[in-house]
Amino acid sequence: MDVVEAIKRQLDIVEFIGRFTPLQKSGRSFKGLCPFHTEKTPSFYVFPERGNWRCFGTCGEGGDLFTFVQKRENADFRGALRLLAAEAGIELSVEDSRKRSQHERLAAVMSAAVEFYQRCLREPGGEAAMAYLRDKRGLRDNTIESWRLGWAPNDWRVLRGFLHNRGYEEHDIVGAGLVIEGENGRESYDRFRGRVIIPIANERGEYIAMGGRGLHGEEPKYLNSPQSELFDKGRTLFGLDHAAGSIRESGVAVVVEGYMDVLGPWQAGFTNVVATMGTSLTEHHAGLLRRSARRIVLAMDPDAAGLAAAERAGGLFLGLDSPENMGQAVRQADAIVGSAEVELRVAPLPPGQDPDEITRDQPEVWRSAIDDAPPFAEFLLRRLMNAQQVESPSQARELVDRLRPVLAAVRDPLERAVYIQRVARHLGIGEEAIIERLQAGARQTVPAPRAREAATPLTPEDVLLAILLKHRVLRHAFRNYPPSLFTGALERELFLRWLRDEEAFGRGEEEEPVMLRARYLEGRRLPPLSENEARAAAQEQVRKILRDRIVMHQAARSEDLAEAERRLGANRVAELAMATWRGAMPEDHDRTLAEAVIEELQLGLSLHRREDPSTV
Ligand code: UTP
Ligand code: MN
Repeated sequence: MDVVEAIKRQLDIVEFIGRFTPLQKSGRSFKGLCPFHTEKTPSFYVFPERGNWRCFGTCGEGGDLFTFVQKRENADFRGALRLLAAEAGIELSVEDSRKRSQHERLAAVMSAAVEFYQRCLREPGGEAAMAYLRDKRGLRDNTIESWRLGWAPNDWRVLRGFLHNRGYEEHDIVGAGLVIEGENGRESYDRFRGRVIIPIANERGEYIAMGGRGLHGEEPKYLNSPQSELFDKGRTLFGLDHAAGSIRESGVAVVVEGYMDVLGPWQAGFTNVVATMGTSLTEHHAGLLRRSARRIVLAMDPDAAGLAAAERAGGLFLGLDSPENMGQAVRQADAIVGSAEVELRVAPLPPGQDPDEITRDQPEVWRSAIDDAPPFAEFLLRRLMNAQQVESPSQARELVDRLRPVLAAVRDPLERAVYIQRVARHLGIGEEAIIERLQAGARQTVPAPRAREAATPLTPEDVLLAILLKHRVLRHAFRNYPPSLFTGALERELFLRWLRDEEAFGRGEEEEPVMLRARYLEGRRLPPLSENEARAAAQEQVRKILRDRIVMHQAARSEDLAEAERRLGANRVAELAMATWRGAMPEDHDRTLAEAVIEELQLGLSLHRREDPSTV
């Protein structure tokens, strides 16, 4: 739950707005005089269930709690956030700035440690490590330099002493995971001892962790920084700071498992490679890549562990032991990648070789493995097909049945058709026979529940924003649309930033709610759209939003009318409306009612008009 959500939950919108204009219950909503323009009869409504408000009078404004404060206090989104956080008793700015400053302090310690270890590699005592990197790993000086590789001397407290001398606080050195607290009151000691140091940076190039490789077969082979305020393995891709430019240029990101599998390819000129550091690919990883990659290629070690990781990456922890699980895995892969415009592929590397070795010894093999990597689903289909001999009709049936879950999980019908064609060719039979068999089985088997089904359904406002974020060319066409198209303050803020072409949406301030919202919407699946289609789709959403508002207005009004009808009787209400219509002026109180009836009628008409697309 983000902070905006937390604040909305904490505060009662009716009570809050009620401080500025008296509100009266009217059915499921509350109404009062609009605080933003002068009026005699109430046309301002608060809808507690939806958490928003709207004026159906001349100003036509509406929004949520945040936009109310923005308007009322003439504040920007941040200002409203601060004010409401204080109101809700949520310590927003203090917490945030404490976190940020802690992050900065820890990053500073980490950076000093990187510098220290880098120097140790070149000083007496570092010779063996240097020889290892140059001779055993074949790294050139430029590579060692660019990645700021280092050496942690085999000593208990040399880094600790260095950092203390530099004036860093013990508390922060421990927090960064560089030293380990001693037991029974003993002094803390260095985590990395006698290891080659590989600094790990985040996508902004700040050092957040390190990996240390033993030279002599020590266990573990790699010792890594622990999870900390600074370092979250599941959200970090090793090498992304070096690879970002190349990924953006080529649109392709290659994901490997280990440090050396990034350094080797990098030195061989393949600079679009990042590593998950031995874990599976998470949606956070994919989120980092999605910003600039159209294609994510998994190039894990082809040995058993590597393959398992590739499977895990696609299937999270499902395992691919059954065709059903493979089908799930394809859906999971979609969910991890999180966007229909990014595809996940798997590069089958020659067995027994690391990306590290392949790029050095057979760069052409690497190049074609990456270029020709099949989509994840195809990779699984190939495995299933290769795993089973087909010599009889019953075996063919069996195979098609095994392929079904994977084929069913392929969303794109065109892609599915291509696979069916391949299966047909593989079996040497017609496609129709296969389609028929697939359908026969599909009728019997209950479809597996979709893994991690797309969370909450998107509102038209969300869809509109998602389209706009994805199609920045629409900025010109939408430059005159009012931000009030969006009810939520977050969405409105996002729209404003989009209009101003603020590409980065608060980069670096991960916790900023506007950016989180942007990430969320950017991650939602949209069909691929041309510019024209995107514009039409966006306009359709605008129509939906307006229609929704009108319906809301009607609902609010009809509560009034129902109430009046109960009180006065339907005939009397109709008479009043007729009188007003004719220009007769009923008494003040009744006139409001009569106007409401008329407005109701007119809204009915305008709603009708809105639904005719030719008029918008
Ligand atoms: P590998 O054992 O495949 O590493 O583990 P590698 O990169 O090929 O190592 P070299 O070539 O022998 O030096 C893959 C990744 O898993 C993580 C590391 O990120 C490593 O690069 N790992 C592995 C650890 O964190 N700890 C370990 O003990 C082993
Ligand atoms: Mn290796």
